[in-house]
Amino acid sequence: MTTFIAGGTGKTGRRVAVRLHARGITTRIGSRTGTPPFDWDRPETWEAALGEADRAYVAYAPDVAVPNAPDQLSGFGKAARHLHAITLLSGRGEPQAKQAEDALRDTAPHATVLRASWFAQNFSEGLFLDAVRQGRLALPVGDTPEPFLDADDLADAAVATLTEPNHEGASYQLTGPRLLSFADAVQEIAEAVGREVRFESVSEAAMLDGGPPDEIDLVLMLFRELFDGRNAHLDTGVQQLLGREPRDFRTFAQANEEAWR
Ligand SMILES: NC(=O)c1ccc[n+]([C@@H]2O[C@H](COP(=O)([O-])OP(=O)(O)OC[C@H]3O[C@@H](n4cnc5c(N)ncnc54)[C@H](OP(=O)(O)O)[C@@H]3O)[C@@H](O)[C@H]2O)c1
Repeated sequence: MTTFIAGGTGKTGRRVAVRLHARGITTRIGSRTGTPPFDWDRPETWEAALGEADRAYVAYAPDVAVPNAPDQLSGFGKAARHLHAITLLSGRGEPQAKQAEDALRDTAPHATVLRASWFAQNFSEGLFLDAVRQGRLALPVGDTPEPFLDADDLADAAVATLTEPNHEGASYQLTGPRLLSFADAVQEIAEAVGREVRFESVSEAAMLDGGPPDEIDLVLMLFRELFDGRNAHLDTGVQQLLGREPRDFRTFAQANEEAWR
């Protein structure tokens, strides 16, 4: 068995690769810096990158909600339709992400979809890391709660869909076990690290000079769309796929406190 991992150097792809290696499964890491390279914007790179793979984990970049995603995932599904299994990482409650899922399934109907809530690792290895380290995270979101999901649980679930039978064409909603506002999550981190970290709810305008314009636009779009209450509930995809409870945010924060020192 050989598994192609699109986004194999990212938060979830890296974890999926480690788990597959531990089971003796060969991986091909898809990234722009891989050998051979894999680039969503250069379809001519896809066939060589897939090589002899017979299954694929797909973490689309930069985000399943961007306008290019449906076209590129439809093209990828065509190139990868011969694979035994394809698992797509998607977002929960996002109409644009659903369009991207549908486009992949138009050409690869057997694809499995994992709709994940926001990752706890956005605070420890992603977008929010620097701000949390500096002691102040400011975002255009109020107290709408989110069931943050541990990327380790997502990776365990992805491996289950790639290595066990009967997941073809299925969709799963994966969340953590507890609803937390961003302020609650930051408080959990502050307690784990043992120093003050503040959360501030700010206007969109206050975000605009906070980083690369493309990245900020994407974050604003996601916050606008996702934190209106539609995702403020728990789902059971982790339990369905793994037969156990997802990891709690407090356990995540305690295990990762070095990231914020
Ligand atoms: N963050 C969340 O809370 C969350 C929740 C639900 C769903 N998602 C979905 O998760 C996906 C991202 O997965 P992730 O968080 O595991 O990845 P990530 O940590 O954001 O890393 C991105 C990965 O994609 C690669 N990449 C970037 N641009 C690329 C391009 N043009 N062509 C090919 N590869 C490219 C990167 O490698 P190189 O830079 O070396 O190319 C890297 O391996 C998105 O589709 C997002 O919608 C995220």
